[in-house]
Parts: sequence; structure tokens; C-alpha cells
Amino acid sequence: MQSLLRYNTFGIDAKCRQVLEYHTIEELQHYIADGVFRTQRVLHIGGGSNLLFTQEYYDMIVLHSAIYGKQVLDETAEDVHLRVGAAEVWDDFVSWTIGHGYYGLANLSLIPGEVGASAVQNIGAYGAEVSQYIERVHVVDMQTGEISSLTHDECQYAYRDSVFKHKLQGRYAVVYVDFRLNRSFTPIVTHDAIKQALQGIEPLTAARLREAVIAVRQAKLPDPKDIGSAGSFFKNPVVENALAEQLLRSHPDMPHFCVADGTKIPAGWLIEQCGWKGKRLGNVGVYPKQALVIVNYGGAKGQDIVAISHHIQADVQRQFGVTLEPEVNFI
Ligand code: EPU
Repeated sequence: MQSLLRYNTFGIDAKCRQVLEYHTIEELQHYIADGVFRTQRVLHIGGGSNLLFTQEYYDMIVLHSAIYGKQVLDETAEDVHLRVGAAEVWDDFVSWTIGHGYYGLANLSLIPGEVGASAVQNIGAYGAEVSQYIERVHVVDMQTGEISSLTHDECQYAYRDSVFKHKLQGRYAVVYVDFRLNRSFTPIVTHDAIKQALQGIEPLTAARLREAVIAVRQAKLPDPKDIGSAGSFFKNPVVENALAEQLLRSHPDMPHFCVADGTKIPAGWLIEQCGWKGKRLGNVGVYPKQALVIVNYGGAKGQDIVAISHHIQADVQRQFGVTLEPEVNFI
């Protein structure tokens, strides 16, 4: 039996039968050929920054990639094509790209987790999503050990979503991700908080944009090293335009954004309106600076987090008629 404490940023001390790490594709293929995963259930995780262990014990193998490496496949005056190991820490990779003059990822600075999971979850922040920069995802079939790859289109990227979370869930292990980044810096500065943090800063470089993003995140989001969390707990819901119009009549100050399939309302705003911001239930609570984040103040069980999330969902449903969907993966 092994503790999963250091494999999840929520800081839940769940246990599993065994944690297995593989350092090369061959090592993973070796486990597959040996039939290790045919007789035992397996859960593949990345940095554990977007999952919630809801049980106290998992009778399964938790598999984690230790495949590292950053390789320049080709480089022109316009762009660069990189192949990156799934286990690379996301933010170290972002920092490395900026240091080398490869641009596009500054807005995604300080997002916890690893490169492999970034391609599954389609991480996003401040007007950028990682899928904009992903060309191809290399995978190993967990049944056959066969190596293949999916093009950007085959990954079916959407808001915090990809084919790996649906049709292909559990089928593949992501081993490498190919990125195409720019050789010239075109800043994306759409978010008010970022605009404010950059006021008076000239000339705007990628390194400075990264610093601004880090400052804004640090001011709003807990550092998993200090307080357990998995970042945003819920997705921002998209509701029918008619419901949004109705809500705007009673709440004219409600932030809202028109999207292709309706109106997006920030979940953090809905949760705050229901009085949950900063509220605490025993060891768990809603982060006082960002209502979208549920935190573990220490010693919480997965079920404590599940319970508070259900309370929040019920209140938002009752008060606004809006269904909140978790962004975090429940295990
Ligand atoms: N808001 C509130 N109260 C709150 C939090 C937010 O009223 O407690 C309102 C704000 O006033 C603002 C709006 O909600 O009008 C949006 O807030 P914010 O810009 O902080 O972003 P968010 O929608 O709460 C999303 C992502 C974050 C990402 C930020 C910045 C999701 C689920 N979350 O949060 O991603 O960093 O935008 O782009 O889309 C994550 O996925 O873990 C994550 C942190």
C-alpha cells in the first residue's frame, strides 16, 4: 500500500496498491507486455493538480510518467517545433521556452501540473489555451503497447476538454507532446487584471508578461505548496441566452460573455453571490480571494471536498437555475 499524498495538489492522503513510474517508452511497453495492467486496474496521472481522490483506498496501480526531455525538431525564422516529455513540469517548460526566445505560452505561466496532462486537460488562462500551440500528441496504447500519435484536430480540443477525456479515456498514455511556438513575440493582453499589472511597463517582453501573469495568479490563487487545491474546481457554465437575459434583469452587474453556444457566466461570481466565498466547513473551504477554488486547510478527506462541492452546486442551482460542472476530475 502506498500513499498518494505527494501525487495530488489537493493534499489528500488517499492510498493505492502501488505507484509505478516509467522512465522510457520501452519500460512502459515492458509493463504492458508483462500483462501488469491486464490483471489490475490502472489509473494514469500527471502532476495530480487537477484531480480529486474521493476514496480513501484504491485497489489499483497508479501510473506516472517520468519521461523527460525537450527537443528542438526544427526551427525557422518564424517558428520552432518542439517535442517535450510528458513528465516535464509545465511551468518549468514555459520558463524554458521564454528563455530560448520561443513565444506563445507566457499567459499559461505558473499553471501547476505536467506537460502530458496539459495536453489532456487543454489548460488555459488569460486568453490563451495550450491547444493553440499543440501540433501532435504521442501516445502508447495501454492494451497493445503500440506507439502512435494524434494530430491537433484528432485531439478534439474544446474548453478544458479533449478526446482523451471522453472517447479515448484510459486507452492511451501520453508520452510526448509536440508544440509549435513563435519566434517573434505577439502578446495576448485581453484580461483586465493583466492589463493593470502591465501598466507603465515598457517595452513589453514575454518575460515581463510572464511576471505579470505570475503576480496576478499569486494574488488570487493559493500555492499548492501552502494550501491544498486543484485550481478552479468548477468550469465556467455556458447557459442559454434566455436564462442569461432573465438573470441580468435581476442582477444587472452579473459578468457575462457571449460565446458560440450561449452565454458564459463566471462560476466564481455565482458562488460568491451565494455567500460561499471564504466560507469554511471544518477542514475545507472556499478560497477567500477566488470563489472558484475549493481548498483543503489540512487533513481533509476527499469526501469532505465532495460534500462542500455538492452544497455549492445545490445553492447555485437553487438561486440561479445554473448547473455547475466540476472542472476537477473525480477519481
Ligand atoms: N469572480 C467573482 N468572484 C470570484 C471570482 C471571480 O465575482 O470569487 C468574477 C470576476 O469578477 C470576473 C470573473 O468572475 O468578472 C472572472 O474571474 P477571473 O478572471 O478570476 O477568472 P475565472 O473565470 O474565475 C478562469 C479560469 C482560471 C484562469 C482564469 C484566468 C476556468 C474554470 N477558470 O477563472 O483557470 O486562471 O480564468 O484566465 O475557466 C484553472 O483552470 O484551474 C484556473 C485557475
